[in-house]
Amino acid sequence: MLTLVFVCCVVFVTGRGVTSPQTECLPEFGCFISDGIVPVPQQPAVVDTHLKLFTRSSPHSPRTSFAVDQFDSHINKFASLLDTTKDTKVIVHGYIGSGSMPWVVQITSELLLKGDFNVIVVDWQTGSQQEYNLAVGNSYLVGAEVAKVLTYLHDNRTLDYVRVHIIGHSLGGQIAGHIGYRIKGIGRISGLDPAEPDFRDKDTSRRLDQSDATFVDIIHTDGSKFKLLSGYGFLAPMGHVDFYPNGGQHQPGCDEKPIISAIDSILHGSIGGATRSVTCSHNRAVDLYIESINSACRFYGHTCSSASKFDDGSCMGCSVGGCPVMGYDSNQTSQRGSFYLSTAGSAPFCAREYYVEIHVSHLASTSYGELLVTLTGMNGGSEEIKFSPRNEYFRRDQVEKHVIGTNTDIGHVKSLRVKYVEPSHNHHTSHTAHEIRLHSVIMGSTERSNDRVKFCGHENGIHPDGSLTLSSSLNC
Ligand SMILES: *[C@@H]1O[C@H](CO)[C@@H](O)[C@H](O)[C@H]1NC(C)=O
Ligand SMILES: *[C@@H]1O[C@H](CO)[C@@H](O)[C@H](O)[C@H]1NC(C)=O
Repeated sequence: MLTLVFVCCVVFVTGRGVTSPQTECLPEFGCFISDGIVPVPQQPAVVDTHLKLFTRSSPHSPRTSFAVDQFDSHINKFASLLDTTKDTKVIVHGYIGSGSMPWVVQITSELLLKGDFNVIVVDWQTGSQQEYNLAVGNSYLVGAEVAKVLTYLHDNRTLDYVRVHIIGHSLGGQIAGHIGYRIKGIGRISGLDPAEPDFRDKDTSRRLDQSDATFVDIIHTDGSKFKLLSGYGFLAPMGHVDFYPNGGQHQPGCDEKPIISAIDSILHGSIGGATRSVTCSHNRAVDLYIESINSACRFYGHTCSSASKFDDGSCMGCSVGGCPVMGYDSNQTSQRGSFYLSTAGSAPFCAREYYVEIHVSHLASTSYGELLVTLTGMNGGSEEIKFSPRNEYFRRDQVEKHVIGTNTDIGHVKSLRVKYVEPSHNHHTSHTAHEIRLHSVIMGSTERSNDRVKFCGHENGIHPDGSLTLSSSLNC
């Protein structure tokens, strides 16, 4: 069927040199508005949204697939192969994505391992591979298209909206919100680091929020204030439960060198510029969610007034109802609000958390760098873990506290090694001591607040790239 596009009002935005239609009305979807930055969507035939159905009998190649632009001729076949007696999962990729990118393939197989679901992959590859603002404009069309298909399945094929669960990453998280805005009663939306650029100051009708489904869970992994340097993700809470692993702004193991040109090319069009290293924290939300589906290890989140309070050890343990779990099982709690946790810096990410408090010696001179710790327990050693999130000054008598995570089950901690690293070629280190002296380290488990161990540093110094192992609890 040929879709007719009516451009009903053309407004010329003066002063910016932009001439674009502000409203575009499509007979089956209603009108889309431009706000001057985000344009109206491209035509459905250009955005070229495809829906692909995966089931346990066909987990690796789609059972059926169709272009939503050819709804009338293909919807019957699609609907007949979708079993409405089963739960339905809808996966939506983000900017410059596709329905066949590795994480979409992986989450599909993890979900089909977990349960006998209909998994619908929304592939809007062409619509997403555009200049960023245009892709955002297209996201509103994709939301309308998926809503149209779900409405048809509901009205004519007994699809129960309560049993629909939409999982979207980045711009796909926002698309999940657009679907939920059009269809009341969607059971659940999981937003994986939903995109922030172009959405931060939007009314909730134009972005994902908790009114879009009966239950909305969010994982925030890259929510720095978007300043052309980092922060693709939305930092403010937007769901019924919002999880902030490692503070929600930057993820361990992600060595993001903010490359202005790369960000610039993401925003302004050149697709090759979006490198993996720039989006590592943003993609971590997906890694964490996928791991949570079938992992025996639980990502416990802690109630806390802020990410920094959690990081300094003020929010240990779990409240009476237990800690809510981040990821697939996050709907098993009745608690609501923001929750904090630490993860490991590489897979498997689910971590045992430890509270570590380093006391700098009263004999120390000011130094500048970062500390790495390695824990050794009855069952073995941890990986080397970044203690402080970034380079910083360490001054005499300073107490530095953080919650860290390791994915190794080390058992009861017997000793720990502290390594000191100075940044290379850094003006901060030209006036500082090339040594850090330690008085002691106090360690605890985040689950049991009375389980604290003190290790003595005996005012020993650590030189750059050197380390000190602390194992005694005597005389400090
Ligand atoms: C399917 O439901 C829609 C309403 O969503 C209705 O207009 C249409 O006639 C129905 N189609 C069939 C084939 O039953
Ligand atoms: C949680 O969500 C899953 C998938 O959407 C669903 O099957 C399950 O029944 C829900 N559990 C609770 C306790 O709501």
